Amino acid sequence: MTTALVTGGAGYIGTHVGVALMGAGWEVAVVDSLANSSAAAVDAVGDIAGRRPRFHVVDCRDESAMDSVMAEVRPHAVVHLAGLKSVPDSVADPLRYYRHNLESSAVLLTVMQRHGVRRLVFSSSATVYGVPEHVPVAESAVLGPANPYGWTKLVIEQMIADVVRADTRWSATLLRYFNPVGAHPSGLIGEDPVGVPGNLMPYLLQVAAGRRERLPLYGTDYPTPDGTALRDYIHVMDLADGHVAALERLDTSAGKAAIYNLGTGRGVSVLEMIAAMREATGHPVPYEEHDRRPGDVPRLWADPGRAHRELGWKATRTLADMCRDGWAWQSTHPQGYA
Ligand code: NAD
Ligand code: WQD
Repeated sequence: MTTALVTGGAGYIGTHVGVALMGAGWEVAVVDSLANSSAAAVDAVGDIAGRRPRFHVVDCRDESAMDSVMAEVRPHAVVHLAGLKSVPDSVADPLRYYRHNLESSAVLLTVMQRHGVRRLVFSSSATVYGVPEHVPVAESAVLGPANPYGWTKLVIEQMIADVVRADTRWSATLLRYFNPVGAHPSGLIGEDPVGVPGNLMPYLLQVAAGRRERLPLYGTDYPTPDGTALRDYIHVMDLADGHVAALERLDTSAGKAAIYNLGTGRGVSVLEMIAAMREATGHPVPYEEHDRRPGDVPRLWADPGRAHRELGWKATRTLADMCRDGWAWQSTHPQGYA
């Protein structure tokens, strides 16, 4: 079987990518430092897939350990998801973010080059678009991240593009995720945020579960139909399937870094999300209106047409699926993997 090495494979998105890859017939080896995750997540991937991925507790910045992993696993391709992802933390401590995310990626690319592993799929983010001039946002839109986290993504995109340009034996795909939410329908894996969730979906799930009293709703005076901000929420299993499509396409796209938005192409408001969560869980989801959250944009959703045309991929799961599957995880794991 062909092996994919998944860095960050114990994390929220990485576990779902692992399940999708194994379901599509790939062998998966996980590298994760457990900086923001639990080894139990990798066990749960094994429970769903019927076989446990090989698991290396290694930090991508540790070049000699990564050398050993690459020599042992000899992967066909790498899916690079490892990194720090909190926007507010990156604003508070930018150097930590630049050092961590850039160094992880530079070491990984160096080790891949040394071992002749030249196929890569990278987790980028719609955050590289900053405040978009138009929606839906196409890959050709002006780039301009609004925070250091977003800049780390853009610099890594550039690093990969330069490596591919310098050596055409490489093939790389940069995936710009919009707002991944939900969980695998089994409820065995899901998002397990530390402390108070910063993002909408995990917060709503904890309110529905009664773990938090009410959602702080940031901004009700946006120029949108109901006054709340619009985002492109994408089911994490659709996102994971996008990685399988990208990996399967890598061999024929050698010579340049391809870039794809992974989103649904639909903007959903915070109030619509609250209503969908009530419907899916049957629980009240109280909220309290607050001022806008600094740095938030009124509307952001993808033009996912290129991924459909070139990868044959598109998101198929609904908002109701996202809430139902998120609830399957939350209701069975009220304290996450702990
Ligand atoms: P996550 O924190 O759940 O997963 C990241 C994983 O990487 C964690 O398991 C962490 O322990 C691991 N990790 C961090 N630094 C590492 C290092 N140096 N070496 C090895 N492992 C390391 O986050 P996630 O939501 O699953 O995000 C995965 C990737 O997708 C990240 O690169 C993130 O920036 C990107 N992304 C996430 C979102 C989102 O909304 N969740 C959106 C766009 C892009
Ligand atoms: C969605 C909407 C909030 C929490 C972030 C990162 C981005 C990307 C995905 C990685 C907004 C509102 C939220 C709450 C609320 N990650 N909200 N109450 O900000 O679109 O994107 O995650 O690359 O980089 O910035 O997602 O889920 O935080 O917010 O009203 O308690 O929900 O104001 O309108 P966002 P989000």
